[in-house]
Amino acid sequence: MCGIVAYIGKKRAFPIIINGLKRLEYRGYDSAGVAVLNGEMNVFKKKGKVNDLLEFTKGVKIDGTLAMGHTRWATHGAPNDLNSHPHLSGNNRLAIIHNGIIENYGPLKDALKKLGHTFTSQTDTEVLVHLIEEIQKQDGLSLEDAVRVSLTKVEGAYAIVVMDQLDPNKLVAARKASPLVLGIGDDELFLASDATPIVEHTNRVVYINDGEVVILKRNAEYQIVDIDNNIQTPFIQELDLKIDAIEKGDFDSFMMKEIHEQPKSIRDCMRGRINAAEGWIKIGGISELYKDRDDIGRIIIAACGTSWHAGLIGEYLFEELARIPVEVEYASELRYRNPIITPKDVVIGLSQSGETADTLAALNLAKDKGAFLYGIINSVGSSIARLTNAGSYIHAGQEIGVASTKAFTGQVTTLSLMAIELGYKRGTIPKSYYLQLLKELEQIPSKIEKILESTEKIKYIAAEIKDATNALYLGRGYNFPIALEGALKLKEISYIHAEGYPAAEMKHGPIALIDENMPVIVIATNQSAYDKIVSNIQEVKARKGTVIAIVVEGDTEIKQLADHTIEIPNTDEPLTPLLSVIPLQLLSYYIAEFRGCNVDQPRNLAKSVTVE
Ligand code: G6P
Repeated sequence: MCGIVAYIGKKRAFPIIINGLKRLEYRGYDSAGVAVLNGEMNVFKKKGKVNDLLEFTKGVKIDGTLAMGHTRWATHGAPNDLNSHPHLSGNNRLAIIHNGIIENYGPLKDALKKLGHTFTSQTDTEVLVHLIEEIQKQDGLSLEDAVRVSLTKVEGAYAIVVMDQLDPNKLVAARKASPLVLGIGDDELFLASDATPIVEHTNRVVYINDGEVVILKRNAEYQIVDIDNNIQTPFIQELDLKIDAIEKGDFDSFMMKEIHEQPKSIRDCMRGRINAAEGWIKIGGISELYKDRDDIGRIIIAACGTSWHAGLIGEYLFEELARIPVEVEYASELRYRNPIITPKDVVIGLSQSGETADTLAALNLAKDKGAFLYGIINSVGSSIARLTNAGSYIHAGQEIGVASTKAFTGQVTTLSLMAIELGYKRGTIPKSYYLQLLKELEQIPSKIEKILESTEKIKYIAAEIKDATNALYLGRGYNFPIALEGALKLKEISYIHAEGYPAAEMKHGPIALIDENMPVIVIATNQSAYDKIVSNIQEVKARKGTVIAIVVEGDTEIKQLADHTIEIPNTDEPLTPLLSVIPLQLLSYYIAEFRGCNVDQPRNLAKSVTVE
């Protein structure tokens, strides 16, 4: 949610910032802006995407070796030129970029107005830069001290970078609950919301911690202090991120690339964790789940969006295979009620980015209540990964398309590994079934490859239903969360209203909507309850709905009923979601493409939601 990037070094900074903003654009694309210090403060900002900013600056010579840039997902104030970042102080001396929300900006703004400050935007960020200006002026402080003192008066979340026209060899940045990474080159330094703008310059990074302030100077000199000005020792890490992982390669979009990467990303997720021939699973942190407790009483899964759907599949898996009671919670709901969480509980945070504000807050709440925190995360070094007591990375690689695909299957793979292993450990599944599931799990990537080899039919169906205004997704058991996920994918990228329902629930409302204009996508690969799903399809057909059914290869009964069928290879029922979601990702993709939508950057959305 908002991307920030900054540079101080010897090179021309503007192209570095623009390139960095393009990498961060998945975090928000309502507006983009840069500030470059070259004797004087030059600010360029524009509503729209980074390319609109480039167009706006066409022909302007922008030199300078110290600069910062911002790509915005609007919170306070409409997405227009005025509300775009960077924002300037009243004396035009300071510029700021900000990712997060300053919650007490109202009272701060009132107090500053009384001191004569006037504001040009509706943003909380402009208030912060005026506050820094005021403190700098009143107390005669250096930029870093003025930033530090100002932040003691601020409530909310932030990753900020500030520059001062009168101090042209310095950038000051700080973080609380919004991500910030420092990149260390030979004679240059970088700052960014994540490592993607940094990786092409250096692989040495420091993940800035909450409450830290970083002072960046020329010649790659930097210092990290806490809010009380105590010097902190940086922990420098070597990044394991390759540039081709953040490029589209031969694909038209990141989303299509990521859909096709799934056989590989699932293999990467399972690498070293499973061996069917030898009959074992080794998954990080499982033994720690049992530390200090004889048994796991309950698992609570906290997540948002697509990750929440993966969590629902986790519920089915843990309950069926390991017989552990599970609750799956929207993190935003969990954190604001007074949930019963005890030290006996294991709380799993499920998050691609590891930065989602609500998930982070829910886990902090669970931590306060003494629960054991387990993270299933994609983004290495992210806030949630660092907060949890134990966990497993899903190793899906950087996911850039806003609509999550390979992170979802990575999460489901990890949950499957955990549930199968816990089931075996607890004696709730027999060894023969354990070994069968291991064998099946190892075959999932090649079965996905098979689905991805023949996409023509899915494209054809997409063309048939592309003009629908509504769609209904139905599934039972393990395929109910897949119905939710299929509907979400369609909504997110094609802007068609879609709902996912447990198939049997259709009778309790959605059936009223069905007519000849309503495509109904039925995920009908269940071995159990097959007859029930057949009856549900009959009910839709009786009301003239168009049925698109996802079926297992060789199915004949549903083929005769449905208008269209898409086949997927057979597998054991608990692993079905890993296959049944693939055609739904593709169906949404092609529909969105036929409708001329920007699949990688759907309107109003952002990949990493670091505001509440
Ligand atoms: C946003 C993204 C979704 C994602 C959700 C949760 O809404 O657009 O793709 O599922 O956030 O994000 P997380 O990083 O916690 O998985």
